[in-house]
Amino acid sequence: MDAFNDLIVQVVQLMPKSVVGFFSKKYIAGETLQAAVDFVKKLNAKGIYATMDVLGESVANKEESIQCKIQALEVLEAIEKNKLMANLSIKPTQMGLAIDEQFAYEQALELVKKAAEYNNFVRIDMEDSPFTDKTINLYKKILQQYKNVGIVIQSYMKRSYDDVVILNKIGTNYRLCKGIYVEPASIAYKDRQTIRENYLKLLDAMFKEGNYVGIATHDKPLIDAAYKRIKEKNIPKDKFEFQMLLGVREDLRDKINGDGYKIRIYVPFGKDWYAYSVRRLKENPSVAGHIVKSFLTFGRR
Ligand code: FDA
Repeated sequence: MDAFNDLIVQVVQLMPKSVVGFFSKKYIAGETLQAAVDFVKKLNAKGIYATMDVLGESVANKEESIQCKIQALEVLEAIEKNKLMANLSIKPTQMGLAIDEQFAYEQALELVKKAAEYNNFVRIDMEDSPFTDKTINLYKKILQQYKNVGIVIQSYMKRSYDDVVILNKIGTNYRLCKGIYVEPASIAYKDRQTIRENYLKLLDAMFKEGNYVGIATHDKPLIDAAYKRIKEKNIPKDKFEFQMLLGVREDLRDKINGDGYKIRIYVPFGKDWYAYSVRRLKENPSVAGHIVKSFLTFGRR
């Protein structure tokens, strides 16, 4: 099975951009802010919340990073203007974290400040491990000034429990996910079951201290386990929400919504859709399988 997964990963990476674009359309709200706003309106009409993300990752220089921040400010303005039930997600490397930590802090702070003016919220995504410490530092620094900011914890990271112990002390709004980047086994769990067990251990630790948790997963057994905890521990509804990615397990999304729980969809949009799409395709068991099959069939012709 591991060999099969490795094959999928390699095939997705070798796919032409147009093929990636074709298969990944359902994961992206469109290339423009207007397309994303229209999309979020449809979600909101069903009672579903959104977090909006301008696609793009590490930037080459400060100028590019400033452009990313301007686009993110426009998202906050659009949310306010259209009265959307949505907040903003940002990637720290988009804010320039790989270039200059102080600069990235100032950029992210400006966004959180603007969000505070609108009574809105900014979620700082978690990227790969070279940025974990820097991202936590960035978050802590901003939290000293504004409360409308949150961070992401990845359950595949062995360090995460220790991070949560520290972050709990300062009162943290979490998004808890498994983690998507390829990390070395020395620092990250690789076994699916261990990652799940750690997810629940982290969820318990977050709930225990009364923090707000965005339970971000499409994994049914994890969602069931979260339901169980919420009921058994009487976790108030203003202390958690479920979160999912656009285009993934809409059946489950609608079920959670129908069960009366708050659910938020990650709505990415923009021209830089490639890296995000490749990550989603690698995670989609069926699409990747179809692609592998079509490549193998093609090879036999
Ligand atoms: P898992 O990958 O086991 O998927 C469970 C089931 O969901 C699969 O069996 C399949 O049915 C379905 N599924 C999952 N992905 C699919 C896909 N692409 N297409 C079709 N079906 C699919 N990661 C990170 O490192 N930093 C971050 O900041 C974030 N942010 C984030 C926000 C939100 C709202 C979500 C939901 C996720 C993230 N992630 C993330 C990604 C996360 O770490 C993880 O990679 C994915 O959520 C997939 O993990 P699951 O828990 O869904 O389990």
